[in-house]
Amino acid sequence: MNLSRLALSLGQSATLKLNELANNLRAEGKPVIHLGGGEPEERIPGGAAAESRRLLDGGFVRYTPVSGTAPLKKEIAAYTSRHYGVEPGPKNIVVASGAKQAIYNFLVSVVDPGDQVVFPAPYWVSYPEMVRLAYGMPVVVRPREGRLTVSAGDIEAHITSRTKAILLNSPNNPSGQVYSEDFIREMVEICEHRNIYLLMDDIYNSLVFDGLKAPSAFNFSKRPLNDSPIVSVNGVSKTFSMTGFRIGWSVANEAVTQAMTKVQAQVSSCPSALSQAAAAGALREGDGFAEALRAGLEKKRDVMAAELSKLGKVKLHKPQGTFYSFPDFSAYEKDSAKLAARLLAEAMVVTVPGAEFGLEGHLRLSYCGSAADIVEGVARIRKVLK
Ligand SMILES: Cc1ncc(COP(=O)(O)O)c(C=O)c1O
Repeated sequence: MNLSRLALSLGQSATLKLNELANNLRAEGKPVIHLGGGEPEERIPGGAAAESRRLLDGGFVRYTPVSGTAPLKKEIAAYTSRHYGVEPGPKNIVVASGAKQAIYNFLVSVVDPGDQVVFPAPYWVSYPEMVRLAYGMPVVVRPREGRLTVSAGDIEAHITSRTKAILLNSPNNPSGQVYSEDFIREMVEICEHRNIYLLMDDIYNSLVFDGLKAPSAFNFSKRPLNDSPIVSVNGVSKTFSMTGFRIGWSVANEAVTQAMTKVQAQVSSCPSALSQAAAAGALREGDGFAEALRAGLEKKRDVMAAELSKLGKVKLHKPQGTFYSFPDFSAYEKDSAKLAARLLAEAMVVTVPGAEFGLEGHLRLSYCGSAADIVEGVARIRKVLK
């Protein structure tokens, strides 16, 4: 087969592959418990359904402006100003088909071949492959033994003259950890001083527990938005349980936004008009929905932590946000892929190996499913480990 070197070099998305596997096993009638999922089980907010239905009933569903519709941009600007304390204009926003496409648009817009993009482990599974898709070089910063976060100094030590951007995801998939204000402040200072882009993947920033708040990088910027190297990415997938709508967005300075718009124009023209209408409805009316989802996940986080504490030798940094936990199973098995395969074969429990996120010895266990599944899933894991 005559495939490109780039295509041949790419790994498959481990998490999407596991979703498929879990669905196939369920279809075969197997009693599978899916602790590998990456989407809440709640129904979408009423406002989202009403808004997309209104557009559909009107009978005109057309291309929209490349960077998104005016009503959705207005809602994104209001959301950004509520949550980040910075008010972007329409020329600072690109609506994309998911936060994933927003990150891709960004990387393709700023990375030259061989440029380095630095991010800490554990990282979202797609970062290394997305950097490679942009012909960049992923540079991973590993935490010290027993930790799930790195210091600003650890990241700074990996910056070279080829560093184009730093990617941070807080709250973090897979660890559930929220980076501190001090850390974010230092990262902003470093990036603004060295003129390196700081991409904040804020997709989980509304799903934070224990009264914490995920600090926004914009709060620590000493520059106006249009002169800032900070790019924030967010979307409706997680906060509003709208993964299937595929709507995300970026907030950035006008020059970067223009470049990202050009990329998107050539790749996909625009995100789906129906989905943009739905996202506008969710942002306008969905604050109550998002809070109920957050509160429900906090309770399920507590269930997961309580169940995991029954596994004597498993170490857990209690998640402070998201719907993932990232316990360390290395006292039982150091090879995470081997352990995940065993749990699937012997207990029909789907988990994601830590190796996929750049940190061996851990498994990612989601708590976005039912509390009953969490209890049963961890009980099955306990039996296998015995
Ligand atoms: C850290 C992180 N960033 C981005 C995304 C992509 O979200 P979207 O569905 O908006 O493409 C995900 C989805 O799992 C994620 O976990």
